Amino acid sequence: MIRAASTQDEGRAAATERLGPDAAGIATAAGILAAGGLVAFPTETVYGLGADAASPAAVAALYAAKGRPSFNPLITHVATLSAARREGLLDAGAETLAGAFWPGPLTLVVPAAAGSGVSELARAGLTTVGLRVPSHPLALALLAAVGRPVVAPSANRSGHVSPTTAAHVATDLDGRIDAILDGGATPIGIESTIVACLDGGVRLLRHGGVPLDALERVLGRPLATSGGGPADRPIAPGALASHYAPATPVRLDATSIRPGEAALLFGPDPLPGIDEAVLVLNLSPSGDPTEAAANLFGFLRRLDAAAATAIAVAPIPIRGLGAAIDDRLRRAAAERP
Ligand code: TXA
Ligand code: MG
Repeated sequence: MIRAASTQDEGRAAATERLGPDAAGIATAAGILAAGGLVAFPTETVYGLGADAASPAAVAALYAAKGRPSFNPLITHVATLSAARREGLLDAGAETLAGAFWPGPLTLVVPAAAGSGVSELARAGLTTVGLRVPSHPLALALLAAVGRPVVAPSANRSGHVSPTTAAHVATDLDGRIDAILDGGATPIGIESTIVACLDGGVRLLRHGGVPLDALERVLGRPLATSGGGPADRPIAPGALASHYAPATPVRLDATSIRPGEAALLFGPDPLPGIDEAVLVLNLSPSGDPTEAAANLFGFLRRLDAAAATAIAVAPIPIRGLGAAIDDRLRRAAAERP
């Protein structure tokens, strides 16, 4: 089992166990988590890398396995709304959103409850906590079996695109984590929407699986989306520029394909030069943003492997999940630090 002490720097575990999506797999995964180990598991958004939220040693091992800067706070996953209320203080806005969208692809950032078991390391020292009740049946079964909060960032090496299959997880983390619970491809394919409910306000921190207009319909008012933390620093560090980055440069809003490029299309229209492309993948030939979100990260991985000079991305309309897709692509295209 991977422990904090053995995963400082490049810690390599002997082998990462593959677990099937059945009662035995869930029981084994729960046992590993309860003992302080690291297990990747599917949620409806992307695969998460789970660790016991209350154990600083397990959380430290998780940061090490991902190679993630430790100032980035983690989302705490619980099986029920009442379990969430033990970890965080949900105000009226948070209760409304939780009632409408949990279980589901929404994370609420709220003040941490006095008795919260989420370790300070998992919260990166903040007085707030990010909470989510996922809707994937395997995730819910696992959380119920563990019986305590589980932190789970996306199960990729820090800076890589999020994994939507067990094979993606293995590519990034094989030998660095204890087990992968394989539940097939994740249905939504893009991370949860993050909303902060603090000081009576409701603010969008990250576009994701719940579209903005769905949130606004439930709240009955527009959501603040600009600004954020002190000095306008983003308070969801996932909102930092280059974050979801393939190694190949990404060229957005392409209206034609240049020689040597790979192409990421959306909708029925081809682009000039497409016949010369190294590889062409279409997120949704019918122009459906939900289908496109499910394909996004897997396609970025395949295009990245195509040895192209750049990945040219056709314009993608900002409707429904299009806003979240656009956000991830802009970060993939951002200057690398
Ligand atoms: O869909 C998802 O949200 C997936 C699945 C596995 O649940 N998880 C995920 O986690 O995307 P991660 O660690 O890749 O992104 C978590 C984001 C980060 O941008 C982090 O900064 C933000 O959540 N976050 C967590 N707690 C926060 C807090 N207390 N205040 C502000 N941002 C917070
Ligand atoms: Mg991530």
